[in-house]
Amino acid sequence: MCGIVGYTGKNNAREILLKGLGRLEYRGYDSAGVALAGESGIYIQKKKGRLKELDAKEIPSTNIGIGHTRWATHGKPSNENSHPFSDCTGDIAIVHNGIIDNFIHLKEDLINKGHEFTSETDSEIISHLLEEHFNGDLVDTLKIVVKMLKGSFAICALQKDSKNIAVARNQSPLVIGLGVGENFVASDVPAILDYTNEVKYLEDGDVALLTPNEVRIWDSQDALVERDVVEIQWTIEDAEKGGYEHYMLKEIHEQPKAIHASLLGRLGGFTEVDLGKYDTEFIRLISCGTSYHAALVGKYLIEDIARIPCTAELASEYRYSSPSELHPFTILISQSGETADTIAAAKEAKRRGCKTLAVTNVMNSSITREVDEVIFTHAGPEIGVAATKTFTTQVIMMYLIAIELGLKTKRLLRETAQEYRDELRRIPRHVRVLLDRSEDIERVSEKLIGADDIFFVGRHLNYPVALEGALKLKEIAYIHSAGYPAGELKHGPFALLTNRTPVVAISVKDHTFEKMLGNIGEIASRDSPIIAVGDHDPELEKLSDDLITVPSVPTLFSPILVNVVLQLLAYYTAYKLECAIDKPRNLAKSVTVE
Ligand code: M6R
Repeated sequence: MCGIVGYTGKNNAREILLKGLGRLEYRGYDSAGVALAGESGIYIQKKKGRLKELDAKEIPSTNIGIGHTRWATHGKPSNENSHPFSDCTGDIAIVHNGIIDNFIHLKEDLINKGHEFTSETDSEIISHLLEEHFNGDLVDTLKIVVKMLKGSFAICALQKDSKNIAVARNQSPLVIGLGVGENFVASDVPAILDYTNEVKYLEDGDVALLTPNEVRIWDSQDALVERDVVEIQWTIEDAEKGGYEHYMLKEIHEQPKAIHASLLGRLGGFTEVDLGKYDTEFIRLISCGTSYHAALVGKYLIEDIARIPCTAELASEYRYSSPSELHPFTILISQSGETADTIAAAKEAKRRGCKTLAVTNVMNSSITREVDEVIFTHAGPEIGVAATKTFTTQVIMMYLIAIELGLKTKRLLRETAQEYRDELRRIPRHVRVLLDRSEDIERVSEKLIGADDIFFVGRHLNYPVALEGALKLKEIAYIHSAGYPAGELKHGPFALLTNRTPVVAISVKDHTFEKMLGNIGEIASRDSPIIAVGDHDPELEKLSDDLITVPSVPTLFSPILVNVVLQLLAYYTAYKLECAIDKPRNLAKSVTVE
């Protein structure tokens, strides 16, 4: 997730930019850079890696500058591909968020005119276009240049020996912060909230000029316009949560967007990985915690859709297991890419001669260096310790992998694959419907308060979802809970059932539904309160105390929807119990020790 900060005024721009970029760090990035304009030129410092490695003190500070944190899209993370970019003369520098769709054509044209490029990015064309069309006035030139661009952009540009910053916005956010004798610009409010809470949001098509004492904005018709001054009421911490009380809730609500991002460009197959080249007689999925539950869903999907035998194993167990004659294609799943056990398992799988693929959310994370290939989930940064949107997008990846493998083995018909992909495309909409019904789920969460133990039961694809529901509740609400395959309760856990042990029963109308109704009947006769989550059914309604229905989808796709209900159930329970939802006791976002 790229971030932008700009400053012009009387203070130390370098410090302001670094602090602002630091405020955006939680969004994730793979490189950072700043450009400061001085009398004798523009000083640029940029580097792949963390902000603290930037060594920005190596360049002189001035009172005007722009800064950027980059999340790679065009071109891998590298020093060269980091922003800011300058033109050939070094007199102009820019930072850019978004994607310029027509950059190839523009770049060719600029090269033919003699411009020299230093990166693989789409963004660099902007500085060269500014140079090429420069008419003596930076903001005027930017107005000309943005007309040539197709795509999304938030652009900030500066020029040597000037106190002006020229900015433009189209489908990528940009906000101007108003100060006294100084002004700010940023992609996101947290970057400037340390200095001002008075802002103007730019609209699509706007171009603006910032000087220390003035902000002027032109709309897409080149008319000088006023944009309302908005007073930000949030604190820094609130702002980073986008107005939600907790990161976890924000991240639950971000799931439609996250699913969309993870599907983007992949519904016709992966462009980054050719699964067809691997021997996939047998597949092993390895991971920890919530990622292990995604792996378990993946096991069912790969077996159901691609008809390939598959196991899901815990990384901490796999790494000490005995090697066998088999060398299965091994998929490591880790949202952070930093989990010590999973990284060790990746190394062990390689040592055993297996081909390895990582599914992770974090570019440049350690696991990406240990495996043969990587697929990124593109869920966006997840701050809450409880994994939510990263789990959902891992599961999305499992569908895509299973479909791809099914086509490869020819056990899945092309038409069926297309139906599955169409169904995946509709998932964000279904999740939105569920999120709109959060209040109903909040009401049901009352039933979990004061429970001694809680069981989550499900069958087949929804058995891992039961495990995940139980983990989420334990993790953030500190209530002991256990996930079970519904058919297993009678083999022991029945002894614990009382009217103080609620059971959350996942009941969708798949081939196990009749059996599930039988299991629920058995539980009901032990007086346990039953919260059913699944499809509407009169019999189910009769047996359960509460029924939370999910939008009607082919049951193969029910895990994602059911899981959203369980996430909200855990969230609201923890909320009512006043638990530290985002930072549960004793837990860390990534477990980098064994
Ligand atoms: O980063 P990873 O996906 O490898 O993390 C694995 C587990 O530590 C993680 O899923 C943990 O269980 C979550 N906090 C659960 O919400």
